[in-house]
Amino acid sequence: MLKKISSLLEYEEQYQQSISSPEKFWAEVAESFLWKKKWSNVFSGGFEKVDYKWFEGAQLNITENCIDRHLDSFGNKTAIIWEPNNPSEPNRIISYNELHKEVCRFSNSLMKLGVTKGDTVCIYMPMIPELAIAMLACARIGAIHSIVFGGFSAQSIAGRVQDAECKWMITADGCYRGDKQLHLKNIVDEALEQCPSIQKSIVFNRSNFPVTMKEGRDVWWNDVVKDCSTNHDAVSMEAEDPLFILYTSGSTGKPKGVLHTTAGYMVYAAYTFLNVFQYNTEDIYWCTADIGWITGHSYIVYGPLLNGATTLMYEGVPQFPDWGRWWNVIDKYGVNIFYTAPTAIRSLEAQGLKFLEGKNLSSLRVLGSVGEPINEEAWEWYHKNIGKEKCPIVDTWWQTETGGILISPLAGITPTKPSFATLPLPGVEPVLVDANGNELTEKVAEGNLCIKKSWPGQARTIYKDHEKFIQTYFTTYKGKYFTGDGCRRDEDGYYRITGRADDVIKVSGHRIGTAEVENAINESPSVVESAVVGYPHDIKGNAIMAFVILKSNATASDEILKKEISETVTRIIGPIARPEKIVFVSGLPKTRSGKIMRRILRKIAEGEPDKVGDVTTLLNPEVVEEIKGKVSR
Ligand code: PRX
Repeated sequence: MLKKISSLLEYEEQYQQSISSPEKFWAEVAESFLWKKKWSNVFSGGFEKVDYKWFEGAQLNITENCIDRHLDSFGNKTAIIWEPNNPSEPNRIISYNELHKEVCRFSNSLMKLGVTKGDTVCIYMPMIPELAIAMLACARIGAIHSIVFGGFSAQSIAGRVQDAECKWMITADGCYRGDKQLHLKNIVDEALEQCPSIQKSIVFNRSNFPVTMKEGRDVWWNDVVKDCSTNHDAVSMEAEDPLFILYTSGSTGKPKGVLHTTAGYMVYAAYTFLNVFQYNTEDIYWCTADIGWITGHSYIVYGPLLNGATTLMYEGVPQFPDWGRWWNVIDKYGVNIFYTAPTAIRSLEAQGLKFLEGKNLSSLRVLGSVGEPINEEAWEWYHKNIGKEKCPIVDTWWQTETGGILISPLAGITPTKPSFATLPLPGVEPVLVDANGNELTEKVAEGNLCIKKSWPGQARTIYKDHEKFIQTYFTTYKGKYFTGDGCRRDEDGYYRITGRADDVIKVSGHRIGTAEVENAINESPSVVESAVVGYPHDIKGNAIMAFVILKSNATASDEILKKEISETVTRIIGPIARPEKIVFVSGLPKTRSGKIMRRILRKIAEGEPDKVGDVTTLLNPEVVEEIKGKVSR
């Protein structure tokens, strides 16, 4: 098993070693895993050519590390606790032995259907154990999973399936989220009309909702697994074989298929889970994310299972049947480590303390935060009311592209400060740069956050578009990985993420590209053009404000037009990308070359119209006053 850092001094020593001899450091960490063949080279390549590789020459299967190697010593231990949306429905407790059987059985099922190593499989499922089983089965047979969050629209699924050329779909008939029913199969059916590459769609019966099964394409999960063996020899994977693709939004165009490979991701997810949360063998661990996001990949499934942990999966939402549900779940299972997002904390805080009455929460030992900056007030509330001032909070900074946590306290070891992600983990070399790319070498500094050297969990490419990968992350500041985030470093060398420095908005922790939302809005029949910016929002962190130019024949009421725009965004992307505010304008501030000046719109949206700066060089300076007037009203 992996060794855990147990003091600040040890962290400092290990950090120094990891920077001075990264290969030695990571080779030692990697020793504790199960390899079919050891590596010939710990690390090669770099950021110059963007050709970095980890553990080259090694062969392994990540699921043997997640499951098989634990069976002899603790096969009966609980791997997954599943808590259903409705508290009166039975929960499910799945041991490592049972998980092994289910993953083997589904691996055999996939192979029976014809799925082979290197195939891409789209998974669009609710938060049920079969989602974890499906992803692990893909990994076991060497298929690349591409999980699409259950809140995305048919069009979003179709775009991702087409881009990844998925041949297989795994879904469910439907699911429950709070008092809502989601008809996933119907959404998938609509998506698949545009996806001729899909050969088979496997449907898990979660809800008994009526569905239409398309002859020759759709098969029920239970029918497929029925005759399959519960033994399966895991396929041998090369260290750099792809493990999964996960789509995420960027500054421009369509979401990008971020690709992670096998060995480096495995080592990094396991190492960071153990150390950041200071996981102990008997802990019950709960991360409230959805497996459709990177947090769910790395810290609901892979990281915990690689450490032989008990990971809790919850199907529902925090407010169902009331805002005390999460606290009930913590008490019901005696959760020790709890990992959630600032938006959820702020929503819970907004309910006051009445839903905490009668809740014990004494099992909690470590609290985590992820996905967006946590403001001091929310941090203090979390610390006081949930952690009862005894649980360290790990504010973990990372990204889909980083595979695992890069900057974070180690729970109970690194002294924390509200809203600071604090210090880099071993192997991670952050650097702040100014707009011209100069490194800011003084201790106290503020700039754009880059990382100097590769770490094992780093994404290797954008699926089928390495050029775009290089362009997006490695050309802004040559030789460095650019995160897209702004960041401050204080006198203790602590890092505080200030938010995105590009055209990406974090809304309730979800990553949304302005260009994507604009393209969706522009599909609305009444719209000529639009521009989207983020502005601070008490609960969501940021919300979306859309400035929209209407066609002259759009004569419906503002209310109807706003509804139509909102519905268009929901149809094309999903409800998470809906603008909070829509402002109709006669023009958008543009430079003489026709580029929209988002900076000006951002200042107006942020409620600082006096800080828009010089507008005289604009093509149409007069619209600025008009927009200011409309937003202030
Ligand atoms: O802006 C940062 C913010 O989330 C972005 C990455 O989003 P995504 O790829 O969806 O991954 C989210 C879960 C890892 C980052 O560029 N972010 C993430 N964690 C933090 C954060 N901002 C501040 N503090 C954090 N702890």
